[in-house]
Amino acid sequence: MIRHLLSAADLSLEDATLVLDTAEEMSRLTEGRSVKKLPALRGRTVVNLFFEDSTRTRTSFEIAAKRLSADVINFSAKGSSLSKGESLKDTALTLEAMGADGVVVRHAASGAPYRLASSGWISANVLNAGDGTHEHPTQALLDAFTLRKRLGELAGRHIVIVGDVLHSRVARSNVLLLATLGARVTLVAPPTLLPTGVDQWPCAVSYTLDDVLPSADAVMMLRVQRERMNDAFFPSAREYSRRYGLDLRRFSLLPAEALVLHPGPMNRGMEITADVADDERSVIVEQVSNGVHVRMAVLYLMLAGAASDGARDERRSERDQVNGAVSDGARGERDQAAGASDAATNEGAE
Ligand code: NCD
Repeated sequence: MIRHLLSAADLSLEDATLVLDTAEEMSRLTEGRSVKKLPALRGRTVVNLFFEDSTRTRTSFEIAAKRLSADVINFSAKGSSLSKGESLKDTALTLEAMGADGVVVRHAASGAPYRLASSGWISANVLNAGDGTHEHPTQALLDAFTLRKRLGELAGRHIVIVGDVLHSRVARSNVLLLATLGARVTLVAPPTLLPTGVDQWPCAVSYTLDDVLPSADAVMMLRVQRERMNDAFFPSAREYSRRYGLDLRRFSLLPAEALVLHPGPMNRGMEITADVADDERSVIVEQVSNGVHVRMAVLYLMLAGAASDGARDERRSERDQVNGAVSDGARGERDQAAGASDAATNEGAE
């Protein structure tokens, strides 16, 4: 299994299938039981490092880690003036000193989890819980899990993703993962809400929702991310809903078995009407409960065994190699010494 989960593209078909199968196992082992805890990550420490608002993703990771008996620390940067660069480094060094085994990070800056994973500051496994407008791989995994549970194997299925693709890390991760799983994806959005270079993505693009719905096995509605919009991307909310919202009339264009997904939080009345959101073919609440099992699977596959001394030493030496490569020899030596609690640490080296 991979060391860090930064992008849905990190997952091969085998990895992705292993995560989905393990999530099924997690659900089987815990659902309907009065004691939902498994001892798999006892003694491991998982840090939830959230620099951006979140309800469902943070709690989902927290419940998942707790159900695996890990110790969980929630570190929220809300309200502080933490910025990128040095501050992220200082936070990372603190987490390393505390002995974090896994760091789940959400950050408004695209690429922050990469920085954390590749800079040599920490030896923990890094899980991207959403970075800027870039990626949100566990959301894509839980969406795929939800789809697979309802539709069976996803190869050849047609999944339609609608709305604010430009600002959506969910859309990008979904396109990548669904392509790996062999599904056919169509993005539907106004031209202003599609990123440049989308023609290079492994999917089709359409501007007309009504044309695409009749052939969809599932339609995933994206939230209009007004907090990321610093410009007018469409004439008005009403105009957006009229052209790209999923209402009952459009819902009736879908095949009888087709599903409706939304990562939440929803703008009811904007991208989706309340009657569609609450229909029994909408699996939005199911996505949330599946999210816990998928995150249990990812944490288990990445962290189980990771706290053993051997594995920790291995990760430390890997980290030190990175340090050696990115910095001068003196800094590499210092970190190596720090990692091994060597009394000969030369604090003044840098
Ligand atoms: C998504 C996110 O934060 O990217 N939500 C989530 O993780 N549940 C999508 C969104 O905010 O619209």
